[in-house]
Amino acid sequence: MNPCNLNQLGITREAPWAVGHFNIHNQEFIRAVVQAAESERSPAILAVGMMSVKYMGLQPLISACQSISRETEVPIAVHLDHARDLDTVKQALELGINSVMFDGSSLGFEDNVEKTTKVVQMAHDCGATAEGEIGIVPHGTASVSQAEMTDPALAVEFAERTGVDFLAVSLGSVHGMKSAGTSLDQSLLQRLHEQIPVPMVLHGASGVIDDQITMAVENGIRKINVNTGLKVVLKSYLSSRLIEQPESDLLEDLEKGIEAVAGSVSARMRLFGSSNRA
Ligand code: 13P
Repeated sequence: MNPCNLNQLGITREAPWAVGHFNIHNQEFIRAVVQAAESERSPAILAVGMMSVKYMGLQPLISACQSISRETEVPIAVHLDHARDLDTVKQALELGINSVMFDGSSLGFEDNVEKTTKVVQMAHDCGATAEGEIGIVPHGTASVSQAEMTDPALAVEFAERTGVDFLAVSLGSVHGMKSAGTSLDQSLLQRLHEQIPVPMVLHGASGVIDDQITMAVENGIRKINVNTGLKVVLKSYLSSRLIEQPESDLLEDLEKGIEAVAGSVSARMRLFGSSNRA
């Protein structure tokens, strides 16, 4: 059955839980996510982002996700994150990826609709799912301006015209936060949930406080994207391990690092309500 697309993970617009999207950068991260999914009996998404493609290459990364996810029974999707051009989407689909996100958030509305519609058609032709974005989730700024947040009327029009399976919205989170301190506009989220016909996605979840994540799931978020928080866990684990046990074997260090990341992924699965849903 593995790997699957996002519709095969059991998430629906109505179900009161969200699936975790975890950005992976190499084999250690992939194994950590799959290990956590198995121990939590939770579906999960292995997400291939553009920085990791630059680091490891599209084909080696997708292929590692596919072969490791085939070894487990819990549903795992392999998903392309934040593609900004159609060529990358095409290449990933040719490599058999199960889901793609096209990020047209920096484009004008009509351009975003046109390119996302193409991505949806390309994905659906291959049996894959497609995510689009409306509103802007910035990188590394302290706050999100009102103009960057998702406009409900535009979001409904965007979802209907493009046919996306999942829609990323901007509610106040920011990409790349190393610790959590951000709150979300929950009343905007409630309005969006009433009107948007497809499940919604929260990007930049590393910076969002746990209570706000719980409320976001209650208010309609069904996919939660985590990247930076997991890198922080591995880096901080390895830096203390290298000081405390300088003579240890590197493979043992990495094995323990995988366990540390898996612990953090498991905690997030419980927070998102996806544990025991597989
Ligand atoms: P963070 O790096 O802030 O967790 O964001 C992840 C994300 O949204 C990937 O699409």
